[in-house]
Amino acid sequence: MGQMAELAGKRILLGLTGGIAAYKAADLARALIKEGADVQVVMTEAAIRFISPVSLQALTGKPVYTSMWDDRIGNGMAHIELSRDRDLMVVAPATADFIAKLVHGAADDLLATLCVARECPLMVAPAMNRQMWENPATRRNVNQLRDDGIIIEGPASGDQACGEIGMGRMSEPAQIVDSIVSWFQPKLLAGARILVTAGPTFEPIDAVRGITNLSSGRMGYAIARAARDAGAHVTLVSGRTGLATPTNVSVVNIVTAQEMHDAVMERIAQTDILFAVAAVADYRVKNRQQHKIKKTHQGLQLEFEPNPDILEAVATQDNPPFCVGFAAESRDVEAYATEKRRRKKIPLIAANLVQEALGSDENELILVDDEGTHRLPRSSKLDQARRLIRHVTRLYKPARKPVASPR
Ligand code: C5P
Repeated sequence: MGQMAELAGKRILLGLTGGIAAYKAADLARALIKEGADVQVVMTEAAIRFISPVSLQALTGKPVYTSMWDDRIGNGMAHIELSRDRDLMVVAPATADFIAKLVHGAADDLLATLCVARECPLMVAPAMNRQMWENPATRRNVNQLRDDGIIIEGPASGDQACGEIGMGRMSEPAQIVDSIVSWFQPKLLAGARILVTAGPTFEPIDAVRGITNLSSGRMGYAIARAARDAGAHVTLVSGRTGLATPTNVSVVNIVTAQEMHDAVMERIAQTDILFAVAAVADYRVKNRQQHKIKKTHQGLQLEFEPNPDILEAVATQDNPPFCVGFAAESRDVEAYATEKRRRKKIPLIAANLVQEALGSDENELILVDDEGTHRLPRSSKLDQARRLIRHVTRLYKPARKPVASPR
């Protein structure tokens, strides 16, 4: 598996306040550690009524602090010591009460004091009943925290512990981790507008049948995510995949190559960089039937006509965006990629062996540009995507005016 320690070396202080979502914080602590983070837990008195500090101590392998007067901190300055060397503080769950305290800079317990005394950024994951979330005081408080530069993660909407349904559930631990990982990425593409094509296209034969290419869409989705993490505005034009839509990415779902072409062309004037990762069907069925073709004892002939080459259509425009093509080859990867780059008149092509990449979580890209060939070491598709973006930022000269960064 291409599991990457996305938070290696990051020192995170995880604060828990007293809400039922505190039980999910145990999962969050585990997930952060799995990503390589060093996690120090601090809990409020109310939080320890919902989950035992012993659980968090066992998961993190570190003492959990709950009191200002804890004499395990040598100099009696727990409120300063614990946040000193941290890269990020995360309060999850953050109750309505704790959020109200943060607004006022109140410092009446250890966690609140750490928040006031901290030097590092703070992320909070609100968790409360929907009416508490909708209360004008909470609305006001959350807006104030945003204005103060505090990162608000969530909440999500859905079933609540109280039996009601609505907004206020704490974001799932995986979502919080995703948001933390994303926050730590260098903003190499701040404000750039990125278009990514991903997945296969499907060309209908009749009402229920069609031809398609094998493509999971994972490489394209990883690029969309990496570009988002790098601070870009990302649009993903996607064929049918089984993948979840990445958050903060706008997704245009299409089926056929013609639809993908049209969706790309509509947006290309507002695009700075195009990553053409989709496995586009080169042909579509010319004698497509509207209704299901009935079985006979005779043979059947399909006629094909070529689909537009989307990447070529974009790259040969006047003033095109920076175009990155992909080449999936089953042999002679480098030679085919070099030839393809010239033919499509694109500055950069990323090539791989299909046998290595198809359906896998890992990949091993070969980047071909004006200077020659650069091989990336084998790693997860997300890591390949981040490396590819670093490479692109060295080549790409913004020709178009950047727009304000989305986050
Ligand atoms: O050799 P091929 O034309 O398949 O080159 C692959 C590259 O071109 C990929 O970046 C792919 O997304 C793009 N492509 C496209 N439209 C097509 C065929 C390929 O954008 N009709």
